[in-house]
Amino acid sequence: MRANRVMITTPGPPEVLRYEPYELAAPGPGEALLRQTAIGLNYIDIQHRSGRYALPQYPAPIGTEAAGIVEAVGAGVDTLAPGDRVAYSSLPLGAYADFRCIAAERLVPLPAEVPDTVAAGIMTKGLTAHYLIFTTYPVKAGDTILVHAAAGGVGSILCQWAKHLGATVIGTVGSEAKAELARRQGCDFPILYTKEDFAKAVMELTHGKGVPVVYDSVGRDSFERSLSCLAPRGLLVSFGTASGPIPPFDLFRLNRLGSLYVTSPAFVTHTSERGELLERARQLFGALAAGILRVEIGRAYPLSEAVRAHAELEARMTTGSNILLP
Ligand SMILES: NC(=O)c1ccc[n+]([C@@H]2O[C@H](COP(=O)([O-])OP(=O)(O)OC[C@H]3O[C@@H](n4cnc5c(N)ncnc54)[C@H](OP(=O)(O)O)[C@@H]3O)[C@@H](O)[C@H]2O)c1
Repeated sequence: MRANRVMITTPGPPEVLRYEPYELAAPGPGEALLRQTAIGLNYIDIQHRSGRYALPQYPAPIGTEAAGIVEAVGAGVDTLAPGDRVAYSSLPLGAYADFRCIAAERLVPLPAEVPDTVAAGIMTKGLTAHYLIFTTYPVKAGDTILVHAAAGGVGSILCQWAKHLGATVIGTVGSEAKAELARRQGCDFPILYTKEDFAKAVMELTHGKGVPVVYDSVGRDSFERSLSCLAPRGLLVSFGTASGPIPPFDLFRLNRLGSLYVTSPAFVTHTSERGELLERARQLFGALAAGILRVEIGRAYPLSEAVRAHAELEARMTTGSNILLP
């Protein structure tokens, strides 16, 4: 069948993205054909497009997350049927499309009360937030934690969930408007790290103690000062590098800085096993249903305008979850 998709023609700026028709084969064994209704826009898409995460060849498909309706299934698929509503966050790349085929085992059935737009905006960011605060460092009532890019996609969900768990949340943000949004999402102390030294502010807020955990998605520009925000034996969770890669680091410094821990966790390690994926998704949808998480879609771009979507995400103009509509 004829379908439409976005391809990365070569690594580079947003303009290397090309919206084009393509020929889609019927679903193979174990696959489902999806009519995609909403596609998640994620910072990792920029890293795939720019070449920061090199791809084996170009032109290359792009996108890891979408929601939609099953149109047909291939041989051996008995857990899904045409008409089912599903969502995913998964490799292989190729979510920027109106129709696509994908392994049925990567698909999560959607509860009736979760709209497709919200599902596409939350699978990657919500499941990431889930593993970060329940697995990587289990946040407890009484903790004071630091979340970078607190008004961003993952950051917005981290703030809401951690606040619900009883933590005090310090967050960094790039503008006054983002500070206000972060505050509404449970961030007790938004810090404008574009104007203020966030490490100094964290030490003042914690009366010199530091925090037990920093969730750092910014990378190069924040890494050093994130370390200096930690209490002895604290954990730096470096889960993203929006500002660029972190330079090589002498491990012995962790000893000198107070027996610190650093980890660089990956989404795939926490969602590749199907039982784990479904359990994390169940808890995520449960948190939405219970009103613990409120996900408002910031910007919705036509899929054909992926170039504009990338330019705005990269320019720090977006907040929360954003989507592309086929
Ligand atoms: N390891 C994992 O499992 C995993 C999973 C999902 C996402 N991630 C990572 O988590 C991060 C957040 O992803 P997201 O999709 O939710 O994006 P996002 O937070 O909505 O967008 C990135 C934000 O980073 C901040 N930022 C700071 N310095 C920046 C710079 N130099 N250039 C651009 N942005 C900068 C900006 O917020 P301010 O203006 O407020 O500074 C910007 O809005 C990304 O680094 C992503 O790769 C990792």
